[in-house]
Amino acid sequence: VTVYVPRDSAARSVGADEVADALRRAAVRGDFPLDVVRNGSRGLLWLEPLVEVVTPHGRVGYGPVAPCDVEDLLASGMLDGAGHPLRLGAVDRLPWLARQNRVTFARVGVTDPLSPDDYVAHGGLAGLRAALEREPADVVAEVTASGLRGRGGAGFPAGVKWKTVLDCADGLKFVCCNADEGDSGTFADRMVMEGDPFMLIEGMTIAAHAVGASEGYLYIRSEYPDAVATVRAAIGVAREQGWLGRNILGSGLDFDVHVRVGGGAYICGEETSMLESLEGRRGTVRAKPPIPAVEGLFGRPTVVNNVLTLATVPVVLASGARAYADLGVGRSRGTQVFQLGGNIARGGIVETAFGVTLRELVEDYGGGTFSGRPVRTAQVGGPLGAYLPPSMFDLPMDYEAFAEAGAMVGHGGVVVFDDTVDMAAQARFAMEFCAAESCGKCTPCRVGSVRGVEVIDKIVAGRHRDENLALLEDLCDLMTDGSLCAMGGLTPMPVRSALTHFPDDFLARGTDPG
Ligand code: NAI
Ligand code: SF4
Repeated sequence: VTVYVPRDSAARSVGADEVADALRRAAVRGDFPLDVVRNGSRGLLWLEPLVEVVTPHGRVGYGPVAPCDVEDLLASGMLDGAGHPLRLGAVDRLPWLARQNRVTFARVGVTDPLSPDDYVAHGGLAGLRAALEREPADVVAEVTASGLRGRGGAGFPAGVKWKTVLDCADGLKFVCCNADEGDSGTFADRMVMEGDPFMLIEGMTIAAHAVGASEGYLYIRSEYPDAVATVRAAIGVAREQGWLGRNILGSGLDFDVHVRVGGGAYICGEETSMLESLEGRRGTVRAKPPIPAVEGLFGRPTVVNNVLTLATVPVVLASGARAYADLGVGRSRGTQVFQLGGNIARGGIVETAFGVTLRELVEDYGGGTFSGRPVRTAQVGGPLGAYLPPSMFDLPMDYEAFAEAGAMVGHGGVVVFDDTVDMAAQARFAMEFCAAESCGKCTPCRVGSVRGVEVIDKIVAGRHRDENLALLEDLCDLMTDGSLCAMGGLTPMPVRSALTHFPDDFLARGTDPG
């Protein structure tokens, strides 16, 4: 019997390793054959560790399984898919999963992340093979036609970026994958790296062929040790398989990928800081232009894309731009991998076409708050994203619709808060976060964020309230207009949204009327 127990770090953090060990020990004790495969996570995080048993009727899930449940589960006939209070039924048919449209995440949680056979059996390499049969310019055109936009947050069309690199004169070019997933409440990049790393390697290789690059760098944040280990192991396997290195799949393409680990700075997720860090310097932001597509790593033309963007490229090439572009709304084509977190009953990964509303994500998928109290707000798009009240939850997930509403889709993180949240404290936190993470290069961000904390403190203390509210508005304008990068430029977004939608939280609560 084959049993899947996730090796994803979210599952490991709640005991998946111990569950896998308990299963193996029970098999030795009971002298029955058991193949424990460590898969990625399906992304139903409240059910982790989610154990799946392969039965003639498909994979049957049990969860959340504690190590002490294992004996009881085995005695109840789990290996035949039999009933038990923890039995969830056929995993593919769980409504939470069945309603999704898993395109990028099709294999995550299904396969053994480090098995090349499993990868190929589930459609892996089809995109690379299709790409290698085509001219670089055709591959770029296909990616452009798919409408795929940068999933790191900015939403810049991937094909247009690639074309800029392709059009640069021949010579040394790079593909850099930004895996410094620093946004609070986001974890999709990590799950790709831990759950289906070959897909990312394949996407980087397609990018290399498309723009004429020979070297790739994967910049992973140090907070993701499991992802670092899994990706390094996957690169080793890919080299052995001839999927990386010289003459990839007999096509004549030479390309290799190297892992670099960050040092813990949020700003190294900003692309030019990341390049500085890759070059061995402290991560500070470079002025743009020149954009990295023209002068990037070591001054050479460089593709810099987020993990999800590159991981989606193989499926675009395998299924065709049309199939991908048919999904979504407006200029937001394809799917987004939304990440539900914070105070939420059912947190995890929801991959679905753009156009899904925030309400569907928070209420239908998420099931409201974990605390059972009313939802007061959701912050979308990371720590620099807006806080939206439930009255705006019918907003469709669409880059343009969100921008019009003073918000951003960003990297797809949705963090939910109940009615005990203090929005002035959240606004203060945005400024505090910026002060801590600012690279210090420009004054509006470096100094403005510190002043922002002070001004919010004065407002809630009731000191010269009207003047300080006006000052905060002014400071937000200055930071938005005068900052060199999105760190200082977007910090006002959560602050302004808190002021606009939750003004009562900024009423004086101190005793100093001064
Ligand atoms: P940006 O708008 O400056 O650039 C977007 C991308 O397009 C960059 O890679 C840029 O080099 C490229 N580009 C622009 N014009 C181009 C052209 N003509 N040809 C080729 N490439 C071109 O945005 P930025 O500063 O890179 O990203 C800001 C976003 O990052 C925010 O909106 C936020 O959502 C997101 N973010 C994501 C985080 C995460 O953990 N994923 C963390 C913090 C912010
Ligand atoms: Fe550095 Fe902040 Fe200026 Fe960005 S906005 S360059 S993080 S000081």
